[in-house]
Amino acid sequence: MVEGAEDHPRSSIPKEELPVPATHTQSYATSKSIFEHNRKYIPGGVMSLPRRTEPELAFEKAKGAFMWDADGNRYLDYHAAFGPTVLGHNDHYVNVAVERTLKAGLDLCGSGTNTLEGRLAELMCTNIEVCEMVQILNTGTEATMSALRLARGITGRDHIIVMQGGFNGSHNDVACNVLTPIELIGPRVSPGEYKYIPLGSGVPLAHQQLVHIVNFNDLDSVKYVCKRYPIAALITEPILQNIGIIKPLPGYLQGLRELADKYGFLLIFDEVKTGFRHSLGGYSKISGVRPDLAVFAKAMANGYVISCLVGKRELMQCIADADPTKRPFVAGTYNGHPLSLSAAIATIERLLEGNGEIYERLNRLGEQIQAGIEDILRACGITGVVARQGSAFCIYFMDHEPRDWHDLASNHDFARDRNMRQKMIQRGIYFFPVETKQCSISAAHTEADIELTLGMLDQCLHS
Ligand SMILES: Cc1ncc(COP(=O)(O)O)c(C=O)c1O
Repeated sequence: MVEGAEDHPRSSIPKEELPVPATHTQSYATSKSIFEHNRKYIPGGVMSLPRRTEPELAFEKAKGAFMWDADGNRYLDYHAAFGPTVLGHNDHYVNVAVERTLKAGLDLCGSGTNTLEGRLAELMCTNIEVCEMVQILNTGTEATMSALRLARGITGRDHIIVMQGGFNGSHNDVACNVLTPIELIGPRVSPGEYKYIPLGSGVPLAHQQLVHIVNFNDLDSVKYVCKRYPIAALITEPILQNIGIIKPLPGYLQGLRELADKYGFLLIFDEVKTGFRHSLGGYSKISGVRPDLAVFAKAMANGYVISCLVGKRELMQCIADADPTKRPFVAGTYNGHPLSLSAAIATIERLLEGNGEIYERLNRLGEQIQAGIEDILRACGITGVVARQGSAFCIYFMDHEPRDWHDLASNHDFARDRNMRQKMIQRGIYFFPVETKQCSISAAHTEADIELTLGMLDQCLHS
């Protein structure tokens, strides 16, 4: 328990910052002018292009379940900064831990080790089954890049398998085939593979030829690729969470495990989004399927910059192999920054409290919103389903939960999805305004917040 944290109720907003009743003016003039200014100096006006949305908003502060834009509009947030803020924004307990490290004077010495990194590593290894050893990094991209490099080093093979509709970061191996129009990908093939469609320019063709894209939930296509190429690793989100919530069919993850053992590739779970959000041990804990390596980030430190690569001891130890020809190069100036380490330790302590009661609460809130949305869809006569894992959910305007990107892209009503999100934002509920992006509930949300959301959704879908 961090000193000074006791005098504040943990998951709620300090009294002096309690939000005023919704005052959504729908004026975005200040946001607009901030964007205009920033566009002069920043390509696109924003530091990560996926954050550029319609309406263009500049945010000023966030606390608990809420965010405020530069015009003073308040939003009940379901975006969660693309996933990290599982405890809610600016969690007091986490902030106190960070402040304490700041005050203690430990900054980035960039030499040797410290007790904080050992403490976090021990916390992870004792609480996360898949984590026998841990390498701390900064971003999800670095973590998946290092995982694939480690897998190539260990197996001596170059080819990898990634999922159509999965996202694993922005490096050359994986910056492809997310939300890609079916016209570019072509019709479903199974068993078979798809062409690498880069998310942008600059990916060498030679590199693309090492990457094999298959549909999620399709074991036959994994076999097809393994018979043709020497595969070092298959990397997948255990639930596809960059196109909503696409869950593995029963037996799919176990099937991947068996194929990995049969063909000698490493199974890597990208738990950047699923990890810490659905359980401390990620989705591998929930599914009972053990990957060889896994990567975590986002909710690991409730929004502070950190990621990690974890896995089986004999594999992880290669990172420090005495023989330099056997160890992949994994290093970084900012690895294990003390402020991020403190935030991660505090976040994990919070998530461990009461034997995981936060997850039970998050799941109850998830059930509440799912049941409410399903009622509204029925009452409005709209074809739709709610796909959900714990606190993360997505409304698909189609008659079944999609099993892969082809299914989703061919059946989902994207126009209705876009329209719903725009209307929710106008009513002060921040459903990220890009189709199929999942919503995430935080521990700072309340039952009343969920009811408010349902009331607004009812208005949006009726109008
Ligand atoms: C599943 C998954 N893996 C990797 C990444 C890349 O993480 P980062 O943006 O921290 O590089 C993301 C980012 O959204 C992600 O969702």
